[in-house]
Amino acid sequence: MRLLVSGGAGFIGSHFVKRLLAAGEDVVVLDKLTYSGNRANLPDGVDLIHGDIAEPADVARAAEGCDAIVNFAAETHVDRSILSAEDFGRTEFRGTQVLLEHIRDSGVRLVQVSTDEVYGDLEAGGSSKESDPLNPSSPYSAAKAAGELLIPAYVRTFGVNASITRGSNTYGPNQYPEKFIPLFVTNALDGAPLPLYGDGRQVRDWLHVEDHCAGIESVLRNGRPGEVYNVGGDNERHNIDVAEKLLELTGADRSLLRRVDDRPGHDRRYSLDTAKLRGLGWEPRIPFDEGLRTTVEWYRDNRAWWEPIKSGEYREYYERQYGERLSTSSPV
Ligand code: NAD
Ligand code: DAU
Repeated sequence: MRLLVSGGAGFIGSHFVKRLLAAGEDVVVLDKLTYSGNRANLPDGVDLIHGDIAEPADVARAAEGCDAIVNFAAETHVDRSILSAEDFGRTEFRGTQVLLEHIRDSGVRLVQVSTDEVYGDLEAGGSSKESDPLNPSSPYSAAKAAGELLIPAYVRTFGVNASITRGSNTYGPNQYPEKFIPLFVTNALDGAPLPLYGDGRQVRDWLHVEDHCAGIESVLRNGRPGEVYNVGGDNERHNIDVAEKLLELTGADRSLLRRVDDRPGHDRRYSLDTAKLRGLGWEPRIPFDEGLRTTVEWYRDNRAWWEPIKSGEYREYYERQYGERLSTSSPV
């Protein structure tokens, strides 16, 4: 197969590219190289086209001769969507529409990588099934939901060959250090504060990036057109417990952990029912303790990857997001 991986220079996309290359597939990457896209995530020699999924000419060029597209391209950070949501709508909705228009009459398969956040807050209990209604809470998750709603419409109207995955919170090497785990690990390694939002009792279902990629590959190869598949780790944890584990693994002092003002609209809990994807033979394989330990080791051994990132634009973002919060923070 020749595959186009859009957003393939980001965190999960780049792991997916390496997985496909190891399986002997022919891969081309289309990536806008936004602040979170990074050539250094990809092996030397990968065919990388610098372009935008919301630009039809870029998609046409990158998708030439491809049998399938796996779309990871997105603005992905909830906190940034609260600071400014503009780019989220363009990439998530318009970008997905351009991909769908491109494959409309071609038979090319599309896997749209979406998120468990489209189901909204599950504080009351239970786990989300693929047939549940969408109830997103943040500008990020609303934009993801808007993008993925185009898929069933194009399947029904034009018969396109497309499926959706909804993944849970993913962690592992090469994750941009704005997200909870890499932010806390890199700050701990630098002796900087770890800003815990609110009471820290929010629950996320953590999934190792290799398990997430294996789930997406299963859907690419065996998923049915028009169907949605949850990809979750069956590994629900309170944020405070993950933060404590990270302190232990990095050897950082507990006084670094600081309680800061909560994220507006913060969802308390996500949880996925993964029976449907398990029916295709997939299951998460990497235990959380092992995955977290090897992830911390990776950040410890790869300062050359993250130190340059934590300068320039990142510092400006960090100051906007945490400056005021940290000045009024309290011990945990
Ligand atoms: P990331 O921010 O690391 O990577 C996103 C990539 O998309 C970057 O390389 C960026 O340059 C690229 N991109 C952004 N806008 C683009 C555009 N208009 N055209 C082309 N490329 C563009 O994010 P990630 O964590 O790797 O997430 C990848 C996908 O997985 C996203 O769709 C996200 O919504 C989804 N997802 C992420 C998680 C998670 O916990 N990280 C969980 C579930 C689903
Ligand atoms: O659930 C899947 C989603 O997971 C993906 O679709 C998103 O792309 C990805 O960013 C992630 O969203 P979250 O908002 O859950 O992830 P984040 O790493 O930002 O936060 C995880 C939890 O940690 C959340 O409850 C907020 C909390 N948090 C986060 C940061 C950055 C803190 O307490 N402090 C922080 O500084």
